[in-house]
Parts: sequence; C-alpha cells; structure tokens
Amino acid sequence: MIRKADARVSSPVRQILIGTRNIKKREEILEILRELPVEFLGLERFPSLPEVLEDGHSFQENAIKKATTLARLSGLWVMAEDSGLEVDALGKEPGVFSARYAGEGATYEENNSKLLKALEGVPTPRRTATFRCAVALARPEGLIFVVEGSCKGLIAQEPRGRHGFGYDPVFYLPEYKKTFAELGPEIKNRLSHRTQALKRFKEKLLELF
Ligand code: IMP
Repeated sequence: MIRKADARVSSPVRQILIGTRNIKKREEILEILRELPVEFLGLERFPSLPEVLEDGHSFQENAIKKATTLARLSGLWVMAEDSGLEVDALGKEPGVFSARYAGEGATYEENNSKLLKALEGVPTPRRTATFRCAVALARPEGLIFVVEGSCKGLIAQEPRGRHGFGYDPVFYLPEYKKTFAELGPEIKNRLSHRTQALKRFKEKLLELF
C-alpha cells in the first residue's frame, strides 16, 4: 500500500491501483488526489503484472489500454494516465512519442536537447506548446470513464530549473516568467495538465461513490 486515506477525512471506500511506474508522476497524482476516500495501491505490489505497450495514436487510447489491461489482469479498479507534449511548430510532435522522442530508452536530457535543436531559430512567439494528459479508470469488466486535461506554454530557449521531470525544464509559462522546473511542485500542481485531468477524475469518481 502506498497511502491510506486520512481517517479524519473519511474511511476508504475503495482500493485503486495506480497503473504507472513513474515515481514522479505518482507523487503528483497522490498529492492532487490526497483527500479522496480511496486507498491507492502501487504497482510494486503486483510484480507479475506486465508492462503495457503504449502503441495508441492518442493519449486517451494509451490511458484506456493501460487501465483496462491492468484491471482485467489484477481484478482491481485501476487508474492509468498517459501524457506528453505537443509543440505547434513541430506539427504537434513529440505527442504520444514524448517519452521516446530521442529514441527508445532516451533520457529526459536527450529528449530536451532534441526538442531544442528541432526548434533552433524559431522565435519565441512561435514556440507555443501544450502538455496533455488523459486519465482512465477501469474495473475488471472494462472502462468506467476517461478524462483529459491540458496546459499551454512556450518552449524555452534553454533548459532551466531543477524540479519535476521530463520536459519541465523547457516548458515555460509566460505569466510566471519561469519554467515548470523552476516553479516547483506547489505551483506546477496548481496549473498542470495532470492537475486539470485529475480534477475532472476526482469529480467523476465522487459521483460514482
Ligand atoms: P508516458 O506517459 O510515461 O508514456 O510518458 C510521457 C512523457 O511525456 C514523459 O516521459 C515526459 O517526457 C513527458 N511528460 C508527461 N508529463 C510531463 C510533465 O508533467 N512534465 C514534463 N514532462 C512530462
């Protein structure tokens, strides 16, 4: 178990497995959903569950595939998310290929370098980009619902900041004059694509309860 719901808030009404092995994403998810009357379980408790191939054409497709596959195999309710970055000047790339933009197994630094190189010479007003996130909830019998969230910004000229993960050092929010990696978790968790999607997730889940 990675977190028991706070007994002062209410006792957990259901267990939900979080279908991601990305620790940073999981931290953000738990922070945003911390008041729900749910006991969240981590994938490390289910070592026999396979890695689900993300071969869909959209974030929604991938999130649904992960959630429904893991729910069927585990017999549990599962929430799964898929997210990534769409850059307008690059025809919405890297999109669903965000994690492997610079190749299979690429590091965050390699992906960021490739992105900055692809945007060399592109002036600031044309460096618009959108982070997108889809979150799906499934039970063993199939999908319950899927929701989406997004967050708009600009791609910086160079990486800045030490917080977060992935493209956070190059995702610049003009209204704050900082990247997500400079802003840190408190502000990122107020604005991000994941937060927007999880707010909708929370509302829908509470309706079900
Ligand atoms: P996946 O959803 O694990 O397939 O990978 C999504 C990829 O998109 C991550 O590896 C990151 O590169 C990027 N990404 C998704 N969400 C964020 C975020 O909140 N900050 C920075 N990068 C992100």
